This record gives sequence, structure tokens and C-alpha cells, in this order.
Amino acid sequence: MNNVTLHTLSALKQDGKKFAALTAYDACFAQLVSSAGIEVILVGDSLGMVLQGHDSTLPVTVDEMAYHTRCVASGNQGAMLMSDLPFMSYATPEQAMLNAGILMQAGAHIIKIEGGAWLAESITLLADRGVPVCAHLGLTPQAVNRLGGYRVQGRDETSARQMLDDAILLEQAGASMLLLECVPSQLAGEISRAVSIPVIGIGAGQQTDAQVLVLHDMLGITPGRKPRFVKDFMTEAGSIAGALQSYGDQVRAGTFPADEHGFA
Ligand code: KIV
Repeated sequence: MNNVTLHTLSALKQDGKKFAALTAYDACFAQLVSSAGIEVILVGDSLGMVLQGHDSTLPVTVDEMAYHTRCVASGNQGAMLMSDLPFMSYATPEQAMLNAGILMQAGAHIIKIEGGAWLAESITLLADRGVPVCAHLGLTPQAVNRLGGYRVQGRDETSARQMLDDAILLEQAGASMLLLECVPSQLAGEISRAVSIPVIGIGAGQQTDAQVLVLHDMLGITPGRKPRFVKDFMTEAGSIAGALQSYGDQVRAGTFPADEHGFA
């Protein structure tokens, strides 16, 4: 795969073509995921739950994110590498700049931060200094304590309107991408059409420009209850390489997610 850039992803959106993203946290899986042609690898702070066994992403540190970003960068074969700034590491624009610099120097091509309008100033500062930003809206797991659990967001008219307004504002502030998590499918479609930057969805239905899943979820190896938006591609495909290929193919063909994976 040629190196995937923001230009590649914008062109796909303009052409009405979908792209795929998956998390990875180490060099081995980074190589497998990128070799399967998945366009974006997310070094998600979900590693706090998936790898470290915590019950939330809150304990994850910038040093840990930098370590896993370096691991993924060394195995990556051309995918765009997105890394999460963890909880409280971007509470002020100055912290955002300092910590984004650490992740970019570890090998990230774009950083992801969770939140709405309050991020606008940080996004502008980062973008002006050459750091592309993906803004994560909807269910923002770092705010799980304020949200009162891992719940679908934007179900009522006021919060849906707020999310749409935030998406537009953050694009204007300089965001290069959006990620919508656990958002009603219709609202996610409306937001994807309202902005010109690519929108990645997870639990956000079929109408976003791209999809992301946590790697361990789509390989069917995460213990416990499977969230509604997850599909186990491993059982169907029978091998890791096959599961990765099938995930990418189904996202690009628009057959994953199906209606049953979304929220009305
Ligand atoms: O941390 C993560 O893996 C994420 C995805 C769930 C989108 O943010």
C-alpha cells in the first residue's frame, strides 16, 4: 500500500468511497493490519482496557501512548498512524501542544482528542503548528464518569443539534478528521454530510465515511459481553489475515456495519 495521507482520505470521501480503520498496539499487528490494506491504524487509549486490563481508559499515560505509538510505527507498512492523547493530557492548549509533540515524535501522523467545542482553541493551535487532529465526538470514553456509563449519545434533539454544531465548529477550527462513537445512525449520516473532512464511525451506522473497530473485538478475543456494534470477523474468516482482509472489504463495500450494528 502506498503511504496513506490526509489527501488520500479526503479524496476517498470526495469520491464517495469508504475506508477502514482498526486499532493496533504493537509492531506485529501493525504489520498485519497495514499489510491487509487497512487505511488507518489507531493506537487507541483503549489499550488501557484491552492490554492493561483496567475498567476504563483513564489510567493511560502519555509515556505509555508514546511507547505503543513507537511499536506500531516500526511495524506499519504505509497506513496512516493515529494516536490518542490520553485523559487529562490536553486539558489546556499548552498541554495539548506539548503532549501532541511527544506522540508525533514517536511516529504518529495525526492525533485524536475527545470532546466538543472546548477543543477548538487547541485544534487551531495544533493545526497551525503542523499537527493534524481528529476530534472524537459522541461517546467519549475518557468522560465515562461524567456521562454515567458507556451510553449512546445524541439521542435527543438538543444533544443531537449540539453534536452537529460542534462537528461544524471543530472542522472550522482546523480538525482534519472526526470520529463519532455510539451515535444514532441518522445523526452520524447528517454530520458526515455536513462536514467536508472524513468522518470515522464506531457504533455510528453505515453513513459515515469510514469505520473503526478495536482489533481484539473484531478478532472475537475480547472477553465478556460483545457490544452491539462489534462483529467477529475471525470466526467467519478462520485466520487473522483473512479476518483483517474481510473487515476491510466489507467496510469498503458498505456491507459492514449492517443495520443490526447501529443505533436507531
Ligand atoms: O481508544 C480507542 O480505541 C478508540 C476507539 C474505540 C475509537 O478511541
